[in-house]
Amino acid sequence: STNRTFTMIKPDAVENGHIGGILDKITSAGFKIVAMKYTQLSKRDAQEFYAIHKERPFFGELVEFMTRGPIVAAILEKDNAVEDFRALIGATNPADAAEGTIRKMYATSIGENAVHGSDSDENAAIEGAFHFSGREIF
Ligand code: CMP
Repeated sequence: STNRTFTMIKPDAVENGHIGGILDKITSAGFKIVAMKYTQLSKRDAQEFYAIHKERPFFGELVEFMTRGPIVAAILEKDNAVEDFRALIGATNPADAAEGTIRKMYATSIGENAVHGSDSDENAAIEGAFHFSGREIF
């Protein structure tokens, strides 16, 4: 059934000029953009968004990275959105990502991996609501 996922084009991909390429991959794969903004996370935003990872050794590095420059945040709609979007972006580590996936094409490392994709319908709703109010979703 039609549902939604949440994505961010991360600071590395923005810095490297890949916003257009990534949005083209997303829309060409049949995802409809129902909300989108260009923004930058504060330290507090990133700590809250990634709270589930706060005990991980890479947490500090993750917060530094995700706050170092602007991102594109978006809510995407498609049949089977969460699963299909994770297939489109590829493995967390671009070295393991399949040919043609967004991370294979645009990511540089496991930390600086170009894009975020929600891992469940529940988290997609939480993450979307973190960035967008009801009147920003179309
Ligand atoms: P993502 O899966 O979107 O959300 C959690 C992020 O933590 C992940 O992308 C990476 O950016 C980052 N991450 C995961 N594992 C590592 C790691 N071993 N070293 C650095 N960053 C990591």
